[in-house]
Amino acid sequence: MDENKVRVKAKALLEQLTLEEKVGMIHGAHLFSTQGVERLGIPPLVMSDGPMGVRQEFEPDHWKAVGYSDDAVSYLPCNSALAATWNRDLAFAMGSVLGGEARGRGKDIILAPGINIKRSSLCGRNFEYFSEDPYLTGELAVPFIQGVQQWDVAACVKHFAANNQETQRLWVDVEIDEKALREIYLPAFYDCLTRGKCLSIMGAYNKIYGEHCCQSKYLLNDILRKEWGYDGVVISDWGGVHDTEQATMSGLDIEMSVTDNFDTYFMADPLKKAVEQGSIPEDYINEKVLRILSLMIKLHMIDDREERKRKSGTYNAPDHRKTTLEVARESIVLLKNDKNCLPLDSQKMQKILLVGENAERIHSNGGGSAEIKALYEISPLMGIKMLLGGNVHVDFVKGYESEQKESEQDGNWQEKSLEDGGGHGQKIQKADQILAQKSTLLRKKAVEAAKAYDTVLFVGGLNHDYDSEGLDRQDMKLPYEQDLLIQELLDVKPDMVIVLVGGSPVEMGTWINRAQTVLWSYYAGMEGGTALAEILFGQVNPSGKLPETFYKKHTDCSAHTLGEFAEEKQVAYKEGIFVGYRYNETFGVEPQFCFGHGLSYTDFVYEDAVYEEADNEGYVLCRITNTGQYAGMETIQVYRMANQETTVLNLSVKEADRKDLYPAKELVGFGKIYLMPEETGQIKIAVKGSAQKMYRLGIGDSVKNIRIVVSAY
Ligand code: BGC
Repeated sequence: MDENKVRVKAKALLEQLTLEEKVGMIHGAHLFSTQGVERLGIPPLVMSDGPMGVRQEFEPDHWKAVGYSDDAVSYLPCNSALAATWNRDLAFAMGSVLGGEARGRGKDIILAPGINIKRSSLCGRNFEYFSEDPYLTGELAVPFIQGVQQWDVAACVKHFAANNQETQRLWVDVEIDEKALREIYLPAFYDCLTRGKCLSIMGAYNKIYGEHCCQSKYLLNDILRKEWGYDGVVISDWGGVHDTEQATMSGLDIEMSVTDNFDTYFMADPLKKAVEQGSIPEDYINEKVLRILSLMIKLHMIDDREERKRKSGTYNAPDHRKTTLEVARESIVLLKNDKNCLPLDSQKMQKILLVGENAERIHSNGGGSAEIKALYEISPLMGIKMLLGGNVHVDFVKGYESEQKESEQDGNWQEKSLEDGGGHGQKIQKADQILAQKSTLLRKKAVEAAKAYDTVLFVGGLNHDYDSEGLDRQDMKLPYEQDLLIQELLDVKPDMVIVLVGGSPVEMGTWINRAQTVLWSYYAGMEGGTALAEILFGQVNPSGKLPETFYKKHTDCSAHTLGEFAEEKQVAYKEGIFVGYRYNETFGVEPQFCFGHGLSYTDFVYEDAVYEEADNEGYVLCRITNTGQYAGMETIQVYRMANQETTVLNLSVKEADRKDLYPAKELVGFGKIYLMPEETGQIKIAVKGSAQKMYRLGIGDSVKNIRIVVSAY
């Protein structure tokens, strides 16, 4: 149905609605749905979290899981994992799984994807987000949304905007210059709404320029509605509204919250009263209801019974599991493989020892609102055992232990999240100190055991006690004394393979120079352990590339050196546009592993790169040859490089807020190619913003490793 017809149909319905009915449609009547209008065939709008799959069912008015036996779902790789694939087709496929499952579970809106920029490595929700780079984020989030929405389900891109820390997330006021807001924090949202045609968007908890984002005139009226012309539905984060008049007069459409006093929400009875008394014009409500009805019509929620057009979706389908496996395979990043210890040869192996809790820990049920009741989750230990079968003996020792906290599945923390910001993770970090003694014993046992094995694999990293909503990490250190454990293990097994699983980078400084082999896996979904095993034993060649900088320590990151982070009242983004690699490359900061980094079991040669234009679009063409022994995939990255006169390398920190400065490098294109050994292929990569011209383009396998530079004049 074209836009005009949608509007006409929506208007016709609107005219029949009473004030009470309209108000019922613009605020939560349950924790995850609004009120419908039965007499007119308008159903309630039913929503669900979240980014890694469709969340289990909760009681309508209480944060208690109902405990059904039929609401387990496919557990998808987190968005950081998806971003590490740099694969637009996989983003579409993963979105399609999420949309299909959301519809299959009877949902209208799925509260995903989360696309906030990873400003600091310490933000607890970084695992839910894609990248530190707005272009990479947008390029993957757009097909993801298209994949979701082909199932007659709305995606809800979140959290708009500048929601980059969890500390005091409900109240913190972000102080940011307009240039940084528009060049770093807004572009991916713009892409999702325009190119991605995302049908809904969630406001952020925090304030920006003194206004709460969910009722911000500047963000929602001036930018979103007027400047971008967005006519989709804006939903508040749960409890993100603070004032009836401001919320109503802003571009917000639906107020949601975490408490069960639904009638007293700001856009419920208080609004009805204000309209009846004449202090707020009813037109504001009409605009909102019109947008909600339009959304419902687009999703075929108000079809006549006889002509039901809406797709039905399904969940836990075998091809959904296949897609999660494909994403997991391409998401794992080979950080280091100095002596080619990987891939391991199972034929030559008698026995192997796995050390580290993450070999067997389940991650799907944690993280906050992103938690999932997974149909199943293959751990690394299980994946390795499944791959090796009965001929190799696989042993496991813990080496360290975390505090296994009470399950988050009942979501109780969310009920009081308006009081404490949802900071359920903090008490866990304190409890970790008590674990220190136990760690010593576990460590000794593991090191002793390791001596008897030819192959030792460490599987550690983080878990959702650290990568979690409502909580920022204090630093990037590995918890549970893992640094000590790794060092002592390397003393007895210098060729130990180190696998780290987590949602955000960790410090590796105490052992990285001695480690020969390091693999990184973001939370990789239900088939994460399968994919990891396939990579370890060479059935799959790793191709993941870091979608964010892995700093040596968090204090190297610009949010900490130039700006402020985890402040309680106001946080100043003094680093401006110099976020992530934009800062490192411009100011000469050496990270542990740079943005875009990721090795392969094979080698690729780049040749004959040229820049071409056709129909006002710019392209880089480049010949790539696989010169190694393994078939494999390479992600070719194109960076716009500052011209000589604007290069600001080694600039003093004080000059960072100069408005005329450009980052030394900016990602403007990328493409992925699969090549057999000795095969040569041609890749064609569209370059963003090519109309502006007059620059040099660096073509490389990471932001640091530029192989060829071409001019685009
Ligand atoms: C989170 C949102 C989530 C909502 C509903 C909030 O705490 O910030 O991302 O969608 O809860 O669970």
